[in-house]
Amino acid sequence: MNLPRLTVTTGDITTQQVDTLVVNLFEGVTAPGGATGAVDAALGGAITQLIGDGELKGKSGEYTLIHTFGKLPARRVVVVGLGKAAGFDLNRARNVAAETARYLRSKGAKRVATIVHGAGIGGVEPAAAAQALAEGTLMGLYRFDRHKSKRNETSDDAGFTELLVIEHDAAKLPAIQQGVEIGRITAEATNLCRDLANEGSNEMTPKHLAEAARTVAAATGLAFRTYGRDEMQQMGFGALLAVAQGSAQEPQFITLHYQAPGAPASKPAVALVGKGVTFDSGGISIKPAEGMDAMKSDMSGGAAVIAAMQAIAALKPAVSVWGLVPAAENMPSATAYKPGDIVKAANGKTIEVVNTDAEGRMLLADALSWARKEGFSPLIDVATLTGAASVALGPYYAGIMGNDQATIDGVLAAAKEAGENFWQLPLTDEYKDLVKSDIADVRQTGTGRAGGAISAAQVLHEFAEDTPWAHLDIAPTYRSNSDKGVLVKGSTGVAVRTMIRFVMRQGAE
Ligand code: BES
Ligand code: MN
Ligand code: ZN
Repeated sequence: MNLPRLTVTTGDITTQQVDTLVVNLFEGVTAPGGATGAVDAALGGAITQLIGDGELKGKSGEYTLIHTFGKLPARRVVVVGLGKAAGFDLNRARNVAAETARYLRSKGAKRVATIVHGAGIGGVEPAAAAQALAEGTLMGLYRFDRHKSKRNETSDDAGFTELLVIEHDAAKLPAIQQGVEIGRITAEATNLCRDLANEGSNEMTPKHLAEAARTVAAATGLAFRTYGRDEMQQMGFGALLAVAQGSAQEPQFITLHYQAPGAPASKPAVALVGKGVTFDSGGISIKPAEGMDAMKSDMSGGAAVIAAMQAIAALKPAVSVWGLVPAAENMPSATAYKPGDIVKAANGKTIEVVNTDAEGRMLLADALSWARKEGFSPLIDVATLTGAASVALGPYYAGIMGNDQATIDGVLAAAKEAGENFWQLPLTDEYKDLVKSDIADVRQTGTGRAGGAISAAQVLHEFAEDTPWAHLDIAPTYRSNSDKGVLVKGSTGVAVRTMIRFVMRQGAE
């Protein structure tokens, strides 16, 4: 995969020496102004004529390719329909940028000049519109093709090398430059998460995930440390080690640390905790064969944390952050943990194992206990935790629960800004009964299937205890079955953008 370089310049879009120009049109506009108007004039009114003929309507998803036949240095103009101006927002700007980038790639575009979408009559702030353009473009063009011997079979993405973002008004240039930079950092982090989560588990072992985090640390200046089996024994990680004992792969507890330059010592560090199950076979409570391949991505939460830390290192918020990834493989074997086992987590609480397929909460129990002991606050965990979250919410919203409404509201606000969908499920004291055990401190699962996403969260609650905490169950949205807006088939990179925004907001408080 080769992604285009993004450059911001001030000038007139009609004079750009590129192969393709991108302008846009809101639905219902009959006399386009701005850049679209300038291109229309240079083309002798071709765009207005197409509108008059009813061929160009500005509807969302509409792409019109016009050949310039020497009237402009660029050989082609693409007019992108933006839909109705009312209700245009950053989400649409981001998704339009992604769809447009894929359209351009399919048409063999190489060097493209575009304006930012929506900063005119769309009413979006220039910096935010520019960020959406960069984010959407780079997320939309993502492809996981490193294992394809013959890459780019259908279209030539090696050729799409440059996207020039043209701004007519020089006064807006700094804002647009900054927006594009933040968008690039955010998209590159999301695409890193996708790369890690799309990788097969034969390569993406706990050790390999730790190496990926080490590489991020080396490139960004983050502090990195990973703990192996023996060290975790010392640390009392009995729940994670129980899951890992069935696998030939050594588990890891991966940590990344960003120290904020000017943060007051009294301000606690935020902890981002990601489930890092590099393959979830279910263990002795083995899963059915159908769809089991997707469980190579059961480390999506961990990948999201490593990726968010990469962006955080670049964006330098005024709050310190720890990224924690408990990583293990869940396998059935002669040494595997079993239903009925009783194990002790890092906070001293015992867990009665009921179903070895409920392994994610075991890893998170130890990681949350450790984070709490270190004094981090708030704790944000992200995990492909339950199929029940998908049953509850369907494929478009991930779940969020927690013990502190202010923290949950902070994550929800960040998610809204980032353009990711989360929906809160209840986690009131009533649910405590679901995870009571007769023989241990905590029962690993609820009884029966009702409220499975909530009983899983309730188990985590036993280990976050009273530290402000929010839990993101991304099982519904960690993967996409099709290319749609910023999403491409495969890992979505969900929660990367939300965590980045959350931390930036936390630093601004
Ligand atoms: N990793 C799965 C959850 C999952 C399923 C994520 C499908 C994404 C897609 C998790 O470890 C799991 O197996 N959960 C069980 C819990 C049950 C045994 C209490 C589940 O959801 O069935
Ligand atoms: Mn499982
Ligand atoms: Zn799992």
